[in-house]
Amino acid sequence: MELGIKNRFALVCASSKGLGFSVVESLLEEGCNVLMTSRNLDNLNNAEKIINQKKFTGVLNKFECDLSKPEEIINLYNHAISLTDRIDILVNNCGGPKPGNLEDVSSDDFDYAITQNLKNTIDLTKLILPLMKKNFWGRIVNIASSSVKQPIDNLILSNITRSGLISFAKTISNQYASFNILINNVLPGRILTDRIKEIAKQKADKENIDINIVIDQLSDDLPIKRLGEISEFGPLVAFLCSEKSSYITGNSIQVDGGLIKSLF
Ligand SMILES: NC(=O)c1ccc[n+]([C@@H]2O[C@H](COP(=O)([O-])OP(=O)(O)OC[C@H]3O[C@@H](n4cnc5c(N)ncnc54)[C@H](OP(=O)(O)O)[C@@H]3O)[C@@H](O)[C@H]2O)c1
Repeated sequence: MELGIKNRFALVCASSKGLGFSVVESLLEEGCNVLMTSRNLDNLNNAEKIINQKKFTGVLNKFECDLSKPEEIINLYNHAISLTDRIDILVNNCGGPKPGNLEDVSSDDFDYAITQNLKNTIDLTKLILPLMKKNFWGRIVNIASSSVKQPIDNLILSNITRSGLISFAKTISNQYASFNILINNVLPGRILTDRIKEIAKQKADKENIDINIVIDQLSDDLPIKRLGEISEFGPLVAFLCSEKSSYITGNSIQVDGGLIKSLF
């Protein structure tokens, strides 16, 4: 299927690794020009090396930016508009908040998670929406979590901030749909990335067992009986960023191997 987004400009946040990186690859494959970001230049360079080994038609740019810092959100926006006069696609993503239950996290941890995973996403989106409105075309996809449908034990900061993000997305999707700006969320379940390994390691250390045992156990309650691969994530996001998704907005779609057992 031709997605119809060749030469569209896409800003993909937190994308040197994991799910964000998968989105970068999928959009480059469709011929988008992509701005890839993360906090660490080495990680960005490694990601660029992997991408350069493949023959994508889209052009890749990269930018170092810590999305937990409000001033760096503005730097990112300024850098993006120095490259292009149109940002057609925004994929909001960030590192996951610190794991833990209520008693494990401090008030500062809450503030940090709310800034990094909610407030700064809202600020960046607010900066970019006027460009999309002017061009009468835009796609915004937020990478959230299956936890917005079913909170995950030991991830209270993630559960709280992502629910807020979904509510933000639904609210603005109603306001911007008539400008041909479509806003959706993708909800990963258990896709084997550094984040899942970090959470598994924390559990393994706590229970004094091997991390591989914990990772194996993570498949047990999945109908599909395996963890997801990074390459299984980006294609859905690329579809939602495309011409072909022209009647889909305000939705949240799981990529979770059947983890969430509810009907909706
Ligand atoms: N994997 C899953 O199945 C799953 C399930 C539910 C939810 N999620 C959520 O989806 C998001 C992406 O997860 P992932 O599994 O892809 O994680 P990951 O493999 O750890 O990758 C995170 C990416 O974000 C960048 N990053 C982290 N903190 C950042 C910050 N403050 N500013 C800018 N970039 C930052 C990292 O690069 P640098 O280190 O170079 O900055 C890296 O490129 C996370 O919020 C995660 O909690 C994932």
